[in-house]
Amino acid sequence: MSQPAPSLTTTEAVPLGSPSLSDAVPVDAASWRRRVDASARLPVLAYVLSGVVWLLVGTVFALLASFKLHEADWLGETAALTFGRVRPAHLATMIYGWLSMVDVGIMIWLWGRLLKTEVRHPWVLLASCALWNVGMVVGTVGLLAGFSTGVEWVEMPVAAFFCIVPALGLVAFALLSSLGRRRVRHLYISVWYLGACMLWTPILLVAVLLPIYSGVPHATVNWWFAHNILGLWLTPVGLAAAYYFIPKVVGRPVYSYHLSYLGFWTLALFYNWAGVHHLVGGPPPQWLVTVSIVFSVMMIIPVLVVAVNHHMTAFARIRRVLYSPTLRFVVFGAMSYTVVSLQGALMPFRSLMEVTHFTHHTIAHSHLGVYAFATMVAFGSVYYLLPRVTGWEWASRRLIALHFWTTGLGIGMYVVGLTVGGIQQGLLMNDASVPFLDVVIATKPWLWSRSIAGVLITVGHLTFAWLVWQIVRHRGPAPDGPVYFRPPPTGLFGRGDGGRAPVADSSLL
Ligand code: HEM
Repeated sequence: MSQPAPSLTTTEAVPLGSPSLSDAVPVDAASWRRRVDASARLPVLAYVLSGVVWLLVGTVFALLASFKLHEADWLGETAALTFGRVRPAHLATMIYGWLSMVDVGIMIWLWGRLLKTEVRHPWVLLASCALWNVGMVVGTVGLLAGFSTGVEWVEMPVAAFFCIVPALGLVAFALLSSLGRRRVRHLYISVWYLGACMLWTPILLVAVLLPIYSGVPHATVNWWFAHNILGLWLTPVGLAAAYYFIPKVVGRPVYSYHLSYLGFWTLALFYNWAGVHHLVGGPPPQWLVTVSIVFSVMMIIPVLVVAVNHHMTAFARIRRVLYSPTLRFVVFGAMSYTVVSLQGALMPFRSLMEVTHFTHHTIAHSHLGVYAFATMVAFGSVYYLLPRVTGWEWASRRLIALHFWTTGLGIGMYVVGLTVGGIQQGLLMNDASVPFLDVVIATKPWLWSRSIAGVLITVGHLTFAWLVWQIVRHRGPAPDGPVYFRPPPTGLFGRGDGGRAPVADSSLL
């Protein structure tokens, strides 16, 4: 079921996933990879570093919000630090700061690598990064000062989006303008996902920000947007990265190239309809909610397609997750994608929603998506690309392992705790004989478990930030080879399979 091997010339690159990936690389592959990495260096570093700074800021807000949910009076005297301000600040800094910015960094690098062409307009990309950061500062300060739009997932003052949307437009311009100069005929599936989300996302943002809605239509557009920013922005970038890094590190073609097209088109056609399931039991017309439930269930198709493709590819040489940090994080993310999406496809049924709607269960689900899937894939991608754009290696394998285990166990604890706690909360709230305060008290241990998980995750984030800072400054022991979790047996990672060649040789990967 693999994609047939294309014929090769020295200028015609090998589509990733080709069976001939490891042994039929064109003779000048090393030099074009070096050129592509060099052209991407500044914009990729700018976006990844900005993302990491926002990750740290967002983590502070996460801890504040989490502790406030069981220690309600804590810092309650300062308006800027009340839950109503800290929560949207956490959402904004994590979604538009950390995930979106690191994802743009990953996109820029992948785009050049997959099209085998230098990144064009690096200064435009740098300007877009600066503009994006201005938007984030304005938005975060604005939220803390009490200026919220009140529209969930786009709470930041509109001025912030006046920076972020044009910045995204500049990114789309710079990347799409290099399509015509690509050195490949074939567009690998990751390019489809990245290209499509560059067109979808500005449309989503402009549509939700138009000042033309009120009442029920506003709520409907709000949830259409909030769901799509996950499914048509963060998901495509995560899937594009997984489709690149899993075959690359495993050293095998994608299991089925035909399935990957099916996955792309079904996501493009179905996802857009799913968001209104957030308003089950709400005021929109029932037919609209029902249509959205039907499309949510139909999402099983793209999810299973991607799951089969990723897992069959990864499991061909799954032993490599013991060694490769990139593979470990990305496979964790890909497995979480399957779980969160299947859960999402089953959750919208009205009978289930009767219990889980408006409970902590929803928050567990959203973190399974934005953290266990999107964030873990982003971590794995950064572990792969930063050595290539900086020309240095990671400072410590032990700290990478610490990062993996703190974040992996932390998010596991977060999701399991709030899923169970949310179901308990929903069942109790449906029992009219239970006073509301008893429900609050019953869920407190689960909220504590989230805070403990949050502290674990924070350790992971600090470790990751330190490692990134070290590699960017070329600090740590001089690189004498790729950094694995443990030394792999001889020959496990051969040339061209993307496991990790020595830095001096990293252009080969
Ligand atoms: C990169 C990591 C993270 C991302 C992208 C992220 C994203 C989000 C999003 C999108 C929401 C809104 C969820 C919804 O309304 O359905 C949210 C809420 C929240 N998150 Fe996170 N989050 C991250 C990490 C964390 C961590 C580590 C903690 C734990 C301390 C945390 C604690 C919270 C809390 C307390 C809320 C508010 C829950 C509520 O209103 O009941 N988040 N986060």
